[in-house]
Parts: sequence; C-alpha cells; structure tokens
Amino acid sequence: MQLSEKYQLVRKLARDFAEKELTSEILDEVEDTGVFPVDIQKKMAKAGFYGIKVPEKYGGQGSDHLAYAITVEEIARVSAVGSLYVNSPNSLGGMTILIAGTEEQKQKYLRPMVEGDIVIPFGLTEPGGGSDAADMRTTAVKDGDYYILNGRKTFITMAPFADYSVIYADTGKRPSGKKGITAFIVDMKLPGVSLGKEEQKLGLVGCATSDVILEDVRVHKDDILGEIGEGFKDAMRCLDVGRMGVAAQSVGVAQACLDEAIKYSKERKQFGKYLCEHQSIAFMIADMATKVKAARELVYDAAVTKDTGGNSTLASAMAKYYASEICNEVAAKSLQIHGGYGFVRGFKIERLYRDCRVFTIYEGTSQIQQIVISGQLLGR
Ligand code: CAA
Repeated sequence: MQLSEKYQLVRKLARDFAEKELTSEILDEVEDTGVFPVDIQKKMAKAGFYGIKVPEKYGGQGSDHLAYAITVEEIARVSAVGSLYVNSPNSLGGMTILIAGTEEQKQKYLRPMVEGDIVIPFGLTEPGGGSDAADMRTTAVKDGDYYILNGRKTFITMAPFADYSVIYADTGKRPSGKKGITAFIVDMKLPGVSLGKEEQKLGLVGCATSDVILEDVRVHKDDILGEIGEGFKDAMRCLDVGRMGVAAQSVGVAQACLDEAIKYSKERKQFGKYLCEHQSIAFMIADMATKVKAARELVYDAAVTKDTGGNSTLASAMAKYYASEICNEVAAKSLQIHGGYGFVRGFKIERLYRDCRVFTIYEGTSQIQQIVISGQLLGR
C-alpha cells in the first residue's frame, strides 16, 4: 500500500523515536534488569503513542487505526517489548473504556492513561479459560450499590504496576438465557485485590505479567463499563483491535529479523564468499522479504478496513494469523543464517527470536484466529 504523506510522517516520527530512545545499550539493560525505563515510558506518552486513537478531548491524538498500526510496527522493529507499552493502552484496557465507558469514565481514566500517569490492563483470561474466554469463573454478585467480585485473572500484562484493571466477570444469565459477562474497572488498591507472582517469561522481558486475584472485592456500580451482561462482546471488539496491534508488532519484529539477516549475510564469509552470495541464503532472504511485505499489506488492510467501517473482525484475525506465523518463520530463518552466533546472547536475533514466540499465542492463538476467520466466512 502506498502511504500518503500523513502516514509517512507518522512512520518517520515513530521510527526516529525508536532509533533515538531505544538504543541497544538500553535494550540490553532491559534484558538484564527486567525493567523498562520509566523515563522512556513517559517520553512515549509525551509523543502521543498511548492515545493514538483516543479523541483529542480526552488528551489523545484523535488519529486512526492505520496510524496506530504503523506506530506499533515501527516501535516493534526496534523493541518488541517497547511496542507492548504502545499496543496495550490503545487496544485493551484503554479501548474498553473508549468503546464502553460513560462520558464521566472517559474523562476520569483516558487522559491520565494517555499521559502515562496510570496503567490499566485488560483482565479477561483466567487459569481455566484462555482460548475459551467466555468460560470464566470470576463472579460479580450485586449487593446494593456494589458488586462483590471473586476470582482470578491470569497472564495479565502490566498487572504488577497497574493502577486500575478492567476485569470481566460473570454477572449471571442475560434475559436471553445466555451467560452474561460484565466489565468492571477495578482500582488495584481496593481491599481484596492482590497479585500472583511475576511470571518469568521466554521473551518480552521488561513488561511484567502476573495474575490478579480478587477476594470479596467491593466495586461500586459506577465502575461498571458498558451494559450489564454485554461485556463479552466489548472484549471481542477490543481484541479485534488488539489483534491488529499484535499483527503490527509481528511485522515490525519480522522486518527487524530480515534486516539482521541481510546485514549479517553481507558481513560473514564462508567457503570464500559472503553468505549472501550463496544462493541458498539469498533465496531464504527473498522468501522472508516477500512474506514480510505480504503481512504488512494485511495489517494495513485491517487498519483501513476498520477506519472505513468494514468488517475488521475478519481482517484483523487474518492479519494476526498470517503476520504472527510468518514472523516466527522469518525469525527462525534469520537465526539459521546467523548460525551458532544466533544462539548466543549479544546478537540481536537471539532476542527477536524469543520475543516473537508469543505473537502466535497472546490475544488469541493462531488456532483461535482460524476459528474466527472460518466462522466469519462460513457464517458460524
Ligand atoms: N465483535 C462483537 N461481538 C462479538 C465478536 C466480535 N468480534 N465476536 C463474538 N461476538 C459476540 C457474538 O455475536 C455473541 O453475541 P450473543 O451472545 O449476543 O449472541 C457473543 O459475542 C459470543 O460469541 P461466540 O458465541 O462466538 O463466543 P465463543 O464463546 O464461541 O468464543 C472466540 C469465540 C472467538 C473463540 C473467543 O472466545 C475468543 O476470541 N477466544 C480467544 C480469547 C483471547 O483472544 N484471549 C486473549 C486475552 S488478552 C491477551 O492475550 C492480552 C495480554 O495481556 C497478553
């Protein structure tokens, strides 16, 4: 897709930011300490990255999904974990507030989130309900003006340093007889809220993940997000956008893997010539580049589809499915080109290979994307 001047500028701003701020020294330190610098988070907020689609009246950029996808892609090209900080407020917790919140809730939460003063994760997944997200055991029982929440949410990105969390809970059957799931915004300081241990992850080191445990947590009815019993649909709407974001992360990381492969193949000689002069390597690079371009087209198509009111559920699922799969393939090929050096710390490809493994898993596995795609096409 040929990008207009506006989107070329979006790309340039994000690329310049990533290359200036996310230096290899800083990224190595993140790997060593597991901590992503707070001052870079603040700079990301100041650059407008946390509220790309949030209307200006709530402090956001008031831009669109194509700008969001390009920004996430460019940050991910330099730092996958950095792009997680951008993707999350734009798609998950922040998005639930954006699509389902009252005017008062939007005023209260969106501006500080966009400005980087509060963090609001997305609490959907449970220990027993990952792919089958509707099979949740967390309950919210009405008690006067309050709801009493009990349950456990798992793999909650950013929970260890969150100020609030969107929590989806079972509020009993809807009038239609179907299970009713409702979204709440829960203050993490409320009595009864606690965290599980911080997970030690294979990749995306520097963005902490843990369980959120809810024991008789009293949440006021003013903190319900959207309609009682209708929260599952809002969660799915958020995931439609989140999946576009993961697809954009995948393209960014895949591009980085390709860049590393090209660079290395022009530096290293074997059998008397550079790796890129061996047809076996050149063909691998041709294959990788073609797939990265195809994935990018799918991501931008999903974004434009959403921006123009089309069926973004289908387009986002296709983009996430394809981009996350080829990203893992491209990362594996790039590592292969690096040989033994790709397997050791200090070579960028080693981190990229670990970071992208989760892309075919989080925000819906590839198999879930296949369910969504086939369901959309076959009307199931
Ligand atoms: N938009 C709006 N509404 C939607 C929708 C969408 N995209 N998809 C489904 N719905 C609606 C349906 O119309 C239906 O409405 P009614 O009840 O009124 O009829 C309702 O939602 C239920 O739909 P389904 O019967 O299709 O739901 P299901 O239980 O069969 O599940 C699923 C469908 C697609 C498999 C879903 O469970 C799913 O997406 N699973 C994967 C979960 C997931 O992605 N988890 C990621 C967690 S977040 C994360 O990973 C981020 C992180 O922090 C790491």
